[in-house]
Amino acid sequence: MNKNDQISATEEFVKQNMKGYDSGHDWWHIERVRKLALFINEKEDLVDPFIVEIAALLHDTVDSKFAEGNSGPGYSLISDFMDEIEMSEIRDHVLNVIKNISFSNRKKSGNHSDPLLWVVQDADRLDAIGAIGIARAFNYGGFRNNPIYIPSEESGNTGKSTIGHFYDKLLKLKEMMNTATGRTIAEERHKILENFLEQFYKEWDFGTGVRNSG
Ligand code: ADP
Ligand code: NI
Repeated sequence: MNKNDQISATEEFVKQNMKGYDSGHDWWHIERVRKLALFINEKEDLVDPFIVEIAALLHDTVDSKFAEGNSGPGYSLISDFMDEIEMSEIRDHVLNVIKNISFSNRKKSGNHSDPLLWVVQDADRLDAIGAIGIARAFNYGGFRNNPIYIPSEESGNTGKSTIGHFYDKLLKLKEMMNTATGRTIAEERHKILENFLEQFYKEWDFGTGVRNSG
């Protein structure tokens, strides 16, 4: 099977396996991560773009479907698929990325000093900040029926409201970038988060003067 056919087959596999997923992990997230990862990789000149594309396409296939802990069957599904379309050679490399990419699920034992992981992880994290990141966060919060903001929530130990999620995770991502290109894009998107929060509090406190002075 040639590379174009392998990419098409992988797109099809991912779409089939993502049907019915939450919209924060929909096909368009995969498309954005693919584009970002390829861009970062080209700028940094790190790995073969083919494997970047395959890893980006597959990076959420297990996470979304088997989110409740037992990821084993998900990994075998991907592993079998990759063997089937003659990608056994890159199989373990891609699986290592999938297993270690997530903010919450990363395996301590995994190989973290892998340029392939760096670019796909940066791309995935960039899609969680900026305007898209804000949209995804409020979409997720709505899906979970979380409040948008709890004024009494201490920043640093939040986790209930969507604004709290900004402090728990989103505002930390800029410092967690692996590549210089990722960091540059993250700077811009991080500012969007900060501007958004500033305006959010301004509107929230409208008329009370609590934060308006600052
Ligand atoms: P990943 O798998 O990339 O680590 P998650 O599955 O945790 O990311 O999150 C997917 C999307 O949902 C991201 O945009 C993330 O910011 C958002 N999200 C996750 N948890 C929350 C939360 N508690 N409140 C708001 N948004 C969230
Ligand atoms: Ni993702």
